[in-house]
Amino acid sequence: MRILGLATMGASAAAIVEDGQVVAAIEEERLTRLKNDGGFPHRAIDSVLHVAGVTLSDIDAVAVYWQPWRIWGRAAGVAHDTLMYPARASARVRRIAQLFSPARAGQGSPKYPELRGSWLELLKIRERLRHHPGTFQGQVRSIDHHESHAMSVCPISGWDRALCLSYDGGGEDHSTVVFAWENGRLRRLKAIRWPNSLGHFYSAITGFLGFRMLEGEYKMMGLAPYGTPRFKDRLLTHALRRTRDGGYMLNRSLIDYHAALDGRFPDSLVRLLGPPRAPTAEFTDHHRDVAASVQAVFEEIMLDIVAWARKQRPEFERLCIAGGCGLNVTANGRLIREGLVSSILVPPAPHDAGCAVGAAIHESLARNPSLSIGMPSPYLGRAYTPAEITEAFRQRGLEPPALLSEEELVERTADALARSEVVAWFQGGSEFGPRALGNRSFLADPRHDGIREVLNAKIKKRELFRPFAPSCKEEVAETFFELNQSSPYMNIVARVRADKQAVIPAVTHVDGTARVHTVGRAANPLYWKLLDAFEKRTGIGVLLNTSFNIQEPIVESPTNAIDCFLRSSVDWLAVGPFLCKRSDYPAVTRPVS
Ligand SMILES: [Fe+2]
Repeated sequence: MRILGLATMGASAAAIVEDGQVVAAIEEERLTRLKNDGGFPHRAIDSVLHVAGVTLSDIDAVAVYWQPWRIWGRAAGVAHDTLMYPARASARVRRIAQLFSPARAGQGSPKYPELRGSWLELLKIRERLRHHPGTFQGQVRSIDHHESHAMSVCPISGWDRALCLSYDGGGEDHSTVVFAWENGRLRRLKAIRWPNSLGHFYSAITGFLGFRMLEGEYKMMGLAPYGTPRFKDRLLTHALRRTRDGGYMLNRSLIDYHAALDGRFPDSLVRLLGPPRAPTAEFTDHHRDVAASVQAVFEEIMLDIVAWARKQRPEFERLCIAGGCGLNVTANGRLIREGLVSSILVPPAPHDAGCAVGAAIHESLARNPSLSIGMPSPYLGRAYTPAEITEAFRQRGLEPPALLSEEELVERTADALARSEVVAWFQGGSEFGPRALGNRSFLADPRHDGIREVLNAKIKKRELFRPFAPSCKEEVAETFFELNQSSPYMNIVARVRADKQAVIPAVTHVDGTARVHTVGRAANPLYWKLLDAFEKRTGIGVLLNTSFNIQEPIVESPTNAIDCFLRSSVDWLAVGPFLCKRSDYPAVTRPVS
């Protein structure tokens, strides 16, 4: 049984689940090179079919992550807010036109070109599939959005039972849903109705602080530890009020997500938090305090929800987390520190892209409830052969260096890293989700704080307050971090042990924490060997790992990798079995077309 899963209106993606096993998944952005691409995932579909070695004729069903007929629940919320706050109606009307006008289908706005998904596409799945190899003759199934999120994590947890928190900007008509997962079934315990949305609260303030919404949320989270949450109580009183049943009530006269997308903020919010920050303005203590306050409010609300769920089901000790809010790695870490649950699992793609996997798993289980579900690895993109990599070099008028054995590649790369040189590392299939997990990574020596400025100069050109994250051999993770569980998808923040903060300063944030990626030997054998070889040279089994991209989606193909390397000034490119030295490949200052 082979199911194709699709997410089509934001962080679009495709996935294939074959007899319960996730065998391929990729986001559309990696292939179109448009960050967070929300267009119909045509290229992702071709890619997962290629990885699975099938055509549409071999697909038994297509599972889509949204139930289009439930749009009326959402429409009621929009109509209500439009009537209540007519002065800001234009932003909402524009978004509605984007989603529902046939003429606008496939077009984003000038500021947000990625918002080009169309609700109308949900009604034309079969027609869209005609553009792809094979003839699809199966059923198209529409899956509840939050159940798609939940199914992207609960079945792969291997846990018999767990609570599941699915929270995001909003699904068909809910923005937060709590499930109990037991014996292969989801039971809904709580649902908070959209447009009451914790995700929209966080995103709107991201825009208020001058960050680009839909991707600046990480930046606000990175800024938060530099501030004092002195506006927390004010926000909890006026903007996002807790309710007695573990829920929350968003004051939408203050927090207007759609107006924020337009860069407009209600006067009442300005009275509460001061003027919004212009995107190019310097950060002041005031901005840092707003970021700290919003992060604190987010965490409080999330802890309330989980505490409520634990009271309902005290025997459910573990927690699965999905939805875009699951990308708030600081909140994930707080949950563990507070001891509210014994362990958590956040999948590699908790945001909407992950729904492609979740919808396909949902449909697989609907067809065969006794199916064993598995996701053997997050490396679900296409892998490239040495011949394909050689061809990519030649397309750029370059010759690759001599092919190395795996051992030579690892030893020479570890030597370079131990000399504190920076390596662009491209191996195997790409990671599914927003985190580089050692197959599409820039790697560096975490022992020297100065490497952060070197990296920013060579590749990232990003705000210095943003932390870099560590990959760590699983065997030594507890030596470095206060973390009593694995973090294979780099989505938990943990404290760096006090005696190790000076050992790995480049990956220790200002508040003494790190966004940890634990690497098991079986999970990524080549990357584990590199960490091991670095440990043999330096005594530490930790590397600084940041995504292989320069202000673009993470590189997908060898051609993307070579182009990005040439645009950067990093010292080495390890692409498959080829190790290229910078001096043999001069940097270019303009994009390679
Ligand atoms: Fe979602």
